[in-house]
Amino acid sequence: MSTATENLQAFRASLLYFRADPAFDDQAHVWHEDGLLLVEGGRIKAAGDHQALAPSLPPGVPVHDYRGMVITPGFIDTHLHYPQTDMIASPAPGLLPWLETYTFPTERRFGDPAHARAVADFFLDELLRCGTTTAMVYCSVHRESVDAFFEASEARELRMVAGKVLMDRHCPEFLRDPVDAGARESEALIGKWHKRGRNLYAITPRFAPTSSEDQLRLAGELARAHPDTFIQTHVSENEDECAWVRSLFPSARSYLHVYDHYGLMRPRAMFGHCIWLDENDFARMADTQSAAAVCPTSNLFLGSGLFDFDKADAARTLLALGTDVGAGTSFSMLQTMNEAYKVARLKGSYLPALRMFYLATLGAARSMQLEGAIGSLAPGNEADFIVLDPKATPLLARRTSHCDTLEELLFALALLGDDRTVRATFAAGRRVHERAAS
Ligand code: GUN
Ligand code: ZN
Repeated sequence: MSTATENLQAFRASLLYFRADPAFDDQAHVWHEDGLLLVEGGRIKAAGDHQALAPSLPPGVPVHDYRGMVITPGFIDTHLHYPQTDMIASPAPGLLPWLETYTFPTERRFGDPAHARAVADFFLDELLRCGTTTAMVYCSVHRESVDAFFEASEARELRMVAGKVLMDRHCPEFLRDPVDAGARESEALIGKWHKRGRNLYAITPRFAPTSSEDQLRLAGELARAHPDTFIQTHVSENEDECAWVRSLFPSARSYLHVYDHYGLMRPRAMFGHCIWLDENDFARMADTQSAAAVCPTSNLFLGSGLFDFDKADAARTLLALGTDVGAGTSFSMLQTMNEAYKVARLKGSYLPALRMFYLATLGAARSMQLEGAIGSLAPGNEADFIVLDPKATPLLARRTSHCDTLEELLFALALLGDDRTVRATFAAGRRVHERAAS
């Protein structure tokens, strides 16, 4: 018997996706002003001009009419923490006091499966409302938090990456994760969840200060034993944290080198923040195909610093964007682009809107070695896509009524857009969010 997702569906709208990074290729994007997207069996079947594709549509195929709107691949958020959902917008003077005051007490509750599941359900629905269809997610140290998250993701048929936080020092006793137990539980969770349905596992040492050398070594061994899993951690977010790492690892050439030493730099390794890296670090990121998750709303909120896009691009480091909720102040990747643009300006760089949409879609997929699966509307990709409404608010409607170029239109969406701009979200060809027309 055929199901709804196996049936052919068509969507009429403007279509935008990427074939390359617009920073390095002026033919990087694909734009169909009056486009048609064909979806079958949870995958993209075709994306092209309406005029070219419509005549070959078999009779009876439903055509969802989103004319006036823009379909893009679903956004990919490469760094955030689901247990921190309820503590978003909590004030503290910087990263380390923020962790002590809010983060650790909040994460304590995630050993309770019912609490974890309730937060995971809210968190995923909020991502979908914001047009994010894939995310790299930190759970808490509790294995129950990972089970709850992946169960909630599986129920929505989402492509999600997540992992249990590893943390065995410099944290409250109630979150301490003995080295051997942490590694054993991670191994069991990889066996249970990695590649089950659309779920993928990330080995997740929180950051160097909260892991002993033994724990980092075991994390590296796990990463070697399971080369197709992901790795995620934080690096060089805040100057106090960098000084702390220098004192904890006095022989390391740099903070990043600590992870390198333990075998944690490789394809599918995602490093959050990367603000205080030097040229050698960025070169090492590129050599190992490790990726940087740039988290501007968090970096501005905590006063951590400004990411240097030019330095990263000079080394051709793989780049993507992250919200870093709960230090990040929004689940919206549009709001994240807005702040990324301003961070780049303050650092003397320039981020065109096309580049920002690339970073939130194909750039992130490439950073995760998932090109061909997500981040694009090219045929064969999984049908994770969103419908953006340039008239979602009175101000957006007014500004986008007179855009002369695609860049101007995308820039207005990035600077003025948020969850209200996301008219609908589709995952594996199934509608998982629709906003009532205003
Ligand atoms: N560094 C270590 N843990 C965290 C966290 O939870 N949030 C942020 N922003 N930085 C961290
Ligand atoms: Zn983080």
